[in-house]
Amino acid sequence: MTLPRRWFDEAADAGKAALRGKDLTGLGRHMRQLDETALLGMTRALRTDEQLASGAVRSAGEVLEALGVVPRHRWIVRRWLKVLAGAGRLTASGDGRYRELKVAGDDEFAASAGALDHSRQALGYPREMTRFFLDAISWLPQLVRDEVSVQSIMFPDGDFSTAMGTYADNIISTFTNRVTAVLVRRIAESKRRGARILEVGAGIGGTTAGILDELDAAGVPGIDYEFTDLSRFFLSSAAERFADRPWVRFGILDVNTALDRPAHSVDIIVAANVLHNAHDVDVVLARLRRLLAPRGHLVIIESCREHYQVMTSMQFLMSGRAGEPAWDFTDLRAGADRIFLDEAEWRDRLAAGGFQTGPVLPGTGGPLAHLAQHVFTAST
Ligand SMILES: C[S@@+](CC[C@H](N)C(=O)[O-])C[C@H]1O[C@@H](n2cnc3c(N)ncnc32)[C@H](O)[C@@H]1O
Repeated sequence: MTLPRRWFDEAADAGKAALRGKDLTGLGRHMRQLDETALLGMTRALRTDEQLASGAVRSAGEVLEALGVVPRHRWIVRRWLKVLAGAGRLTASGDGRYRELKVAGDDEFAASAGALDHSRQALGYPREMTRFFLDAISWLPQLVRDEVSVQSIMFPDGDFSTAMGTYADNIISTFTNRVTAVLVRRIAESKRRGARILEVGAGIGGTTAGILDELDAAGVPGIDYEFTDLSRFFLSSAAERFADRPWVRFGILDVNTALDRPAHSVDIIVAANVLHNAHDVDVVLARLRRLLAPRGHLVIIESCREHYQVMTSMQFLMSGRAGEPAWDFTDLRAGADRIFLDEAEWRDRLAAGGFQTGPVLPGTGGPLAHLAQHVFTAST
């Protein structure tokens, strides 16, 4: 059963209200600025392949070899080659070979990097992001060889969860988290005997905090909220942060494993920026659907396009484990070296999994659409 249209209107209004006073003009341009700096950074990392940089025709395999890319990160560099070809900074010859790399010179890169901080600020990310992003670009040759880790660049002082928290207050997360909180509260209120809510991939709890505040403020009775993540690392800080809510439980849950839980045991599943980690989205959606009770709902936040700045930084965290063989997705992303599904692909996969989908927020046309992160609802 799909959710009433007016709940989406209310959620969208709440999301917009949370952004009141923010300048939303030029968001598309600022996103492109981040992309552009990352693309230029990729060309500079690829010049380690002197033959490619000096005009030779090279296969993807030869480029990987020349850069010394470790097996687990090869998909990232293969993807760079494709996006650079798409952006006209490299020519693809159609037989898996590449030529005419246009390496960004120092001046071109410095100009792009110089414009980055303004765009970072306009998108609502913390000042620290500019440093992290530019440092990651400068370390790309070492990152692809596993000589340095993203974590050590991101958090030189080692305070992972506090620093991650500041990343959650950006423009699009402010909107999507608020929308999610209102939708979850509306669904929870509609469950007369109380709602059983399971959050997967809850991580630093950016989405959780908004939901719990919303449920508290509305005084919704009978809530059982299970905060879960793949990593134990996040559970202890979440347990401390949400200690004043005895109705919140904490547990480990990996969506890529068979979920050993009773069928139809939850009313709402929240999955914020986690489902792209599914090795197979169809398998994971089926697993989650099995857990949902009749009139159950899945509320998902997902990025629906590639962000090139992620491909030169955080994406290194998404490769397999160091020393282990590379793996690939077994769904529509197999062989494509990409992570994110677009909006139409998510709708298709949800429909194929037997869900009924509601309107996606933010919708097309407004300034937030440029940021390509959306809230999906899928109902049993
Ligand atoms: C990008 S973070 C999002 C965190 C949080 N939901 C938010 O939006 O602020 C992704 C989270 O998913 C978790 N994760 C990654 N793979 C997972 C899996 N297979 N099962 C469950 N959680 C996973 C990570 O540990 C991380 O906390």
